[in-house]
Amino acid sequence: MVNKYTFKDDWFSRSTFLFEKYLSAYVGQPCHFLEIGTHEGRATTWLLDNILTHTHAQIDCIDVCILDVLSDNLDKTGVRNKVTLHQGSSTKVLRTFQFEEFDFIYIDGSHSAVDVLEDAVLSFRLLKNNGIIAFDDYPWNDARYSDGTFPKPAIDAFLSIYDHKIKLLHKEYQVWIQKVSN
Ligand SMILES: C[S@@+](CC[C@H](N)C(=O)[O-])C[C@H]1O[C@@H](n2cnc3c(N)ncnc32)[C@H](O)[C@@H]1O
Repeated sequence: MVNKYTFKDDWFSRSTFLFEKYLSAYVGQPCHFLEIGTHEGRATTWLLDNILTHTHAQIDCIDVCILDVLSDNLDKTGVRNKVTLHQGSSTKVLRTFQFEEFDFIYIDGSHSAVDVLEDAVLSFRLLKNNGIIAFDDYPWNDARYSDGTFPKPAIDAFLSIYDHKIKLLHKEYQVWIQKVSN
């Protein structure tokens, strides 16, 4: 099948199997997802095509930079009305949502340790009970594209401190957890 979308980067396809495994229960459900770090919309368009199929399913997307190609790709989904874009840093935008609003949150924005930890802590409050958080790039450590800090220590700290409130679903290149208590 010819891909109708325009993408330059692919940081998503290697993990599609996890999105299928842990999110298939939301197909046809009026669920509410949040993506931190949307870029060209690779994950967003996949979620809209494959999981967010219910008429009232929605996704909020946060990015410091809303690319023209993202808007074009979202238009091509045919369900642009399901998407709310928020331009700004996650540290500000995450504070604008209601507690326990989301079924799934994908943390893939800033990769500096402080930002990943803050995204995780703020996202946990925004997640419904039994909701799921996925972190990308757990072992990523390319100093050329970082401030010298990386996701792993932040994710490890979150997993350790929230241990009694979460169930660990997966821990390899991505980390997936389910919220089991407030
Ligand atoms: C790895 S890309 C996201 C890839 C996307 N999830 C996908 O599946 O293709 C990271 C994105 O996070 C955004 N970003 C970086 N720091 C951010 C921050 N503090 N708040 C929100 N977005 C941020 C960048 O602009 C970039 O578009």
